[in-house]
Amino acid sequence: MTANDAGKTIVRCDGALPLQLEPLQSGLVCQRLSVKFHHYFAIDSTNTRARQLAEDGAREGEIVIAEQQTRGRGRLGRIWVSPPFVNLYLSVVLRPELPPVHAPQMTLMAAVALADTVACFTPDPPAIKWPNDILVRGKKLAGILTESSVSAERINYVILGIGVNINFAHALMPEAIRGRATSLMECAGETVSREAFLGRLIQHLDRCYGILGEAGFDRIAPRWEAYFNLRGQRVRVEMGDETLAGVAKGIDSNGALIVEGERGQFHRILAGDVVPLTD
Ligand code: BTN
Repeated sequence: MTANDAGKTIVRCDGALPLQLEPLQSGLVCQRLSVKFHHYFAIDSTNTRARQLAEDGAREGEIVIAEQQTRGRGRLGRIWVSPPFVNLYLSVVLRPELPPVHAPQMTLMAAVALADTVACFTPDPPAIKWPNDILVRGKKLAGILTESSVSAERINYVILGIGVNINFAHALMPEAIRGRATSLMECAGETVSREAFLGRLIQHLDRCYGILGEAGFDRIAPRWEAYFNLRGQRVRVEMGDETLAGVAKGIDSNGALIVEGERGQFHRILAGDVVPLTD
């Protein structure tokens, strides 16, 4: 393996197969995204690198992708476990023409694109756990970390950070996540081509992003809701030290989760963890 600037590499690693991005890129037909990959062997976080590129003027559709992350980040300050060569870790630079208040719609749009892609590779249907976890058989298979730069009137850029467990063997998952995580390989019963998944994902993102830009969030929301299997169910929402119990009603136009509290009052949840209640 050889490395050049900041770990960006031409990867030749015995026994481990890096992503073959050139054939993938030449076969991609996108309407909105002019895909350009920045491929790293190991990097702290693709989101961090994508932010730097966006600050330096990266164009919409530039994608930072890594074989491994040494400081993969999840929502709410969590770690995203990112071992080499088995999964996908990517961050897409987007520059949507949306008012800043609508920035959260980008996460929901990406969750629909990701769920549509997962559905092509698993026999069991994926579900979205608000706001952006993709679950199969109740276990987490993929997540999205969206980071935005906004000014008073406009969104400067959005970084869509996507992590997907592809060929991550259950037995090799750290104990802390083993009980609640899964991978495509575990669901499909066979290894899955990372390139095939990535190609589909980019096409679905391109399509959903186009729908959001041209037809608006009203066309994305029902697709998101169709993957959301907690509507009408009792849930607990954990927001740091605060907890709220109620019935999940769905999302509003800004992607907030609407929960009807026990005295009939409606709450708009902007960040937190949703836990289904079974009693
Ligand atoms: C979550 O479910 O908590 C979000 C996980 C997002 C992980 C991805 S992996 C690629 C990108 N880089 C990061 O550091 N995080 C996101």
